Amino acid sequence: MSDPKFSIIGSGSIGIGWAIVFARAGYNVKVFDIEASALTNFETQVKTRLELLKENELLTENPQAVLGRMQTTLDLAEAVSDADYIQECGPESVEIKRDLFAKLLKLAKPDAIIASSSSALRASEFAADLAGNDRCLVVHPGNPPYLISIAEVVPAKFTTDSAIATCIEILKKVAIIPIRVNNEPQGFVFNRLQGAILREAYCLVRDGVISPTDLDLIVTEGLGKRWSIVGPFATSALNVRGGIKAHVARMGKSYFEMGRERGQNDPWDQSLVEVVAADIDQKLPDANWEENTKKRDLALMKLNKLFEKVIRP
Ligand SMILES: NC(=O)c1ccc[n+]([C@@H]2O[C@H](COP(=O)([O-])OP(=O)(O)OC[C@H]3O[C@@H](n4cnc5c(N)ncnc54)[C@H](O)[C@@H]3O)[C@@H](O)[C@H]2O)c1
Repeated sequence: MSDPKFSIIGSGSIGIGWAIVFARAGYNVKVFDIEASALTNFETQVKTRLELLKENELLTENPQAVLGRMQTTLDLAEAVSDADYIQECGPESVEIKRDLFAKLLKLAKPDAIIASSSSALRASEFAADLAGNDRCLVVHPGNPPYLISIAEVVPAKFTTDSAIATCIEILKKVAIIPIRVNNEPQGFVFNRLQGAILREAYCLVRDGVISPTDLDLIVTEGLGKRWSIVGPFATSALNVRGGIKAHVARMGKSYFEMGRERGQNDPWDQSLVEVVAADIDQKLPDANWEENTKKRDLALMKLNKLFEKVIRP
C-alpha cells in the first residue's frame, strides 16, 4: 500500500493522541470536530505534547514538522474524502457512533477502513444495519495512544478478513502493535483484565485486607513492574520449572479456590491448559529456563535503574 492518508473524527483526548501517532509516523492527518473550540484546544494540546515528547527524546523531528502534517476542519466531507483510514473518536454513545458511521460510510472512499476508538461499544451495536459495514470495526487504543503502543483490533461478524488485514497493516505502519480480539467480548480484553483486578481490589479493601494505597503499591512496585516485561502467562512459566503445566499443577488449585470465594467457577481444564502451554512453552521452552529467567531479571534490573534515576529521582 502507498502512503495511507488518515482522518480523525472527534478531537478530544483520544483524537489528540491518535493524531500524534499518525503524524509522528510521517503521515498526513485531517482532524474533524463539531466544535470549533475543540479544534482550538486540539491545536494547543498537540503542540504541548509534541514538545514534551521532543524534550524526552521520543520525537526525532521538530514538533513543527509533525504539526505541519495535521489539518483541522469543521467539514466532515472534507475530513474524510481522501482518507484510507478513519479513526472515529467521538463520544462513547451508541446513537452518536451509529449516526457518525452512517455518515462516514456515505462520505468516505469505498475501500477506506473505518475504525472506532470505542472503549466498550461493539461495532455490531452501532454499525450492524449500515450498508458497506464490511470495513467497519473497533480499534481500541490505550491512553495516551502515542505512549501505550498497543491497540485492540475488534472486528464484528460483518467485518471482512481483508478489511481486518488492511487495518492491521496500517496500524503497524504507525508503530502501533495490533492485538486481534475475537468475538467482540463485553469490555474487549484490556478493560476485562483491568476490571478483574479492580473488582478484586475493591473486595480486598471492603474486607479490610489492605488499604487502597497499599493495594496500588502492590501493583506499581510488584505486579505491574514485572508485567511490563513478562505477561501473566510468561510469569507463570518462569516462576516454576517445567513450564505452564508444572505451574498449573502447583498453583492451579489455589487460584481456583480464590475464584470460588468470589463466586467464580472457571476451572483450568486440561484442554485449556494445553492451549496455553502450546503457545507459551514454545516461546519459553523449559530447556532454556535459566537463560530466560536471566533475561527477565536483566530487564528488571534496567527497569529498577530507570525507576531510581528517572522515574523517581
Ligand atoms: N479517554 C480514554 O481514556 C479513552 C481510552 C480509549 C478509548 N476511548 C474512547 O475514545 C472515544 C473518545 O473519547 P475521548 O476521551 O477522546 O472523549 P472526549 O470527550 O475527550 O472527546 C470527544 C470529542 O468528540 C467531539 N464530538 C462530539 N460529538 C461529535 C460528533 N457528532 N462528531 C464528531 N465529533 C464529536 C467532542 O466535541 C469532543 O471533542 C470514546 O469512544 C471513548 O470511549 C477513550
